[in-house]
Parts: sequence; C-alpha cells; structure tokens
Amino acid sequence: FLIDKGNYRHFMAKEIHEQPEVVGLALGHYLDFSAGRVALPFALPVNPASIDRLTICGCGTAYMAGLVAKYWFERFAGIEVNVELASEFRYAEPPLKADGLTLFISQSGETADVLASLRYAKARGQKTMGVVNVETSTLARECDLAVPIRAGTEIGVASTKAFTCQLAVLASLALAFGRERQAISDETEARLVGELMAVPGLMAEALRKDSLVEQIARDLSHAHDVLYLGRGTAYPLALEGALKLKELSYIHAEGYAAGELKHGPIALIDETMPVIVIAPPSPVLEKTISNMEEVAARGGKLILIGEAGLARDVADEVKRSLVLSPMAPDFAAMVYAIPVQLLAYHTAVVMGKDADQPRNLAKSVTVE
Ligand code: G6P
Repeated sequence: FLIDKGNYRHFMAKEIHEQPEVVGLALGHYLDFSAGRVALPFALPVNPASIDRLTICGCGTAYMAGLVAKYWFERFAGIEVNVELASEFRYAEPPLKADGLTLFISQSGETADVLASLRYAKARGQKTMGVVNVETSTLARECDLAVPIRAGTEIGVASTKAFTCQLAVLASLALAFGRERQAISDETEARLVGELMAVPGLMAEALRKDSLVEQIARDLSHAHDVLYLGRGTAYPLALEGALKLKELSYIHAEGYAAGELKHGPIALIDETMPVIVIAPPSPVLEKTISNMEEVAARGGKLILIGEAGLARDVADEVKRSLVLSPMAPDFAAMVYAIPVQLLAYHTAVVMGKDADQPRNLAKSVTVE
C-alpha cells in the first residue's frame, strides 16, 4: 500500500495534523462514548484490584508517555506506579512480584531494550501488557496482552501521533483500572470519559495555531540552549518538548519540573535563554506563575503555552505566548502535546534540517 505526504512537506507535519482523527479513533476503541464509560474490548491479564504496583517501561517518547500515564494511574486508580527506562530496567534487575503487572509501551514493538525488559519481567513471573502500534511486532506477540494504539503507520523518526495515541490508550486503561479498583465513581468515570471525548476537537483547535507556532520557531532557531518547564503531566511534556527540539533542530534543550528550577537550571538563565513554560490548566498553576516571575526577574525570555487568562496575568513577564482554548485539566497534556510538537518541527524546518530523518537517529532501535 502507498503512504504519501499528501499536501504536507514532511511526514512529520502530516502525522502531527492527523492527531485529532487518530486519537478520536483510538479513544473510540476503548470508550463507550454514549454510555460515558470505559469499554475495553478484552479481558485484562490481571485483576487490577489484586495488584499493589504497576511498572511501566519504554524508551524515548514512549517512556515520556509512561511518565504522563503515571499521574493518571495514581490519581484515577490509586495505584503506585514505577516508570522505567527499558535500557536501565533490563540490567537493574529490579525485584518484581510474581503475578504483578508490567506494561510496555513501544510504537514499533521492536526496540531491543524493551524486548529484553519484557523477557526479564516474564521470567520474574510478571503478567505483561504491550501498548503497541505495530500489531504484528515481537512485543505484541510475546506479551500476555497487546493493546493496539491504532495510530496508523508512523514514518517520521520523531514520534508524534503514536505518542498521543499511546496517551489515549493509557488514559482509557487508567480509568478502567480506577473502576475495577473502585477508586472512581460512575459519575467521575462519566465526566472523565467526556473530557477524553473532547480531546480530538481541542487538538484540532490547537492545530490552528500552526502559523503562530512557526513565528515563535523563528525566534527559537537562534537559541543555543532552551529550557522547558512544566508541572504535573506538563512535566513529562517538558521533557518531551526538549527531546523533540534536540532531535530535530540539534539545539540543546532540557526539560525540567518547574519546581526544580531553583535547584539548578535557574543558574543558567540570562537574556539569551528562551524558557518555554507549558502551563495547561492545573490546580498548581499559581506555582508555575511564581516560577515564571523568577525567570523574568533574571531576564529570561519566557515563551508561554497556556490559556488566555494566564497569558493576560503574566503579559508583562512574557515575550511570546501561545494561547490555547480553555479545557478541563485532566487530559490537557494530550492537547498541549500539539504545540510542543509543532514548535520542534517548525524550528527544524526554519533551520533547514530534515524533520523526517534527523541525523544519527533511527525510527526503530532494534540493536542495543
Ligand atoms: C527511537 C525513535 C523514537 C522512539 C523510540 C522508542 O529513538 O526515534 O521516536 O520514541 O525509538 O521507540 P518505540 O518503537 O519503542 O516506541
């Protein structure tokens, strides 16, 4: 079959713009929209109520998806979550209880470190799940339960639509675990399912900011170092933003939990340093605002991704802001992923870099 770029310059742009559609389809497989309930089309390999810990394992962007999901599983299912890099997990030989659950996330299902970690977990008697895009992959075959993300073929080396489809599946699983563990009521489940159903439309709105993101990317393309800050689920998004910018534009970037600013990165801030603050609606927004004031006081160039009210409140401190529509906080990270991806994409394109095929990187790392 033929995969082409359609009207886009790069596969990456096409894949970014496909997200409202593929995320909607992915959610449709795991949620019953009309009943306002999670409806997994399979039985889980463990009873979520019988385990006291969930291990999540992956590499690269899939690992970032696991870090976001940790917040959801903890909040909605009340379960302790460890998120592990597969390249560490396989050699650290962590203690794992037999009949516990390890969940692997991998777009390709072929990443060597992930497969080695899978085999380690199985040898320890863990039940295993694979959140995969390639349904015929080794991970899908070897785990106890493969959960497809159905993002469609992803060509761009830097993962985009697979990331948000992973999040769609992980959010659905977190709600299913929450229900089985009686950690959320039917009403809360219905509200959260409703919030998830709103995500594709909000993503489509975020995509309309494309040309504004491109303007910000022009500024960013002159930077030597960029800092991304976020709290809660926006923290892994800050890590993902920095990863994307590094791999695509070769600009050095770091993601930090906003509250860690004072423990190190604040020393780097001067008037040459762009600081991108990812600030979706959140109960701790006030804390993020004080971090922004700390950056502004040291002359840092603040770029805000947030809602209109926040942008108004911090207008004096901020150099540029990218304003997104109001939304509920719980799954806002899925929507805020869009400007984060677009920013890295456009920075690379402005700089004349190959956004689909960054140097030294491979789509699937099948050797160690
Ligand atoms: C490579 C790719 C990344 C991807 C990572 C994990 O580094 O460039 O985009 O996130 O591998 O790949 P996986 O197929 O396991 O999700």
